[in-house]
Amino acid sequence: MGNRTIKTIAIAAAISVAVAVVVAMQLLPRERGGGGALIGGPFTLVDQHGRTRGNADFRGEFTLIYFGYTYCPDVCPTALHQMTLALDELGGKAKAIRPIFITVDPERDTVARLKEYAANFHPRLVALTGDIEAVKQAAKAYRVYFAKAKGSDAGKGAGKDYLMDHTSIIYLMDRDGRYLAHFNHQTDPSKMAAQIRDRLR
Ligand code: NI
Repeated sequence: MGNRTIKTIAIAAAISVAVAVVVAMQLLPRERGGGGALIGGPFTLVDQHGRTRGNADFRGEFTLIYFGYTYCPDVCPTALHQMTLALDELGGKAKAIRPIFITVDPERDTVARLKEYAANFHPRLVALTGDIEAVKQAAKAYRVYFAKAKGSDAGKGAGKDYLMDHTSIIYLMDRDGRYLAHFNHQTDPSKMAAQIRDRLR
């Protein structure tokens, strides 16, 4: 093969990759986020009162969505606490916002466990669990990674004492379930509140 042939093949390969990316992007549902951020999508889970709740139930409300697990020693409770403080700061406007916690550890985070845990945070908080496939689907929609941490009891069988590795992002979604912004557990609650207030206008 001459140099020119190799160049032609390389260019053709680059073009087909580009075409594949464009096609793949168009196949993704448009409701997944404004501004090109492909975040959000359908889920069906169960809340801390045992009621089935789907993404459509939150249409008309802004949502603050966080994935984590109740046995998380630090990051998850901090994130949920910051969300609570931000909503407290919004006062009456917090009524337009629905904070949602979705467990990535349905094995231990039962409905009863979530009910107890949610009581530590904002009264509007909806805590969701479900079977592992339903949780995986929700996590995938929000580009959230999770897995049992290596070195904990994962893999040893019946062990219940393990940590979870997981993406820790607080998503702000609009009334139609479209992505608006994101925060993390280190975001100052006043800044979170200010950004939410801006979007509510
Ligand atoms: Ni955590």
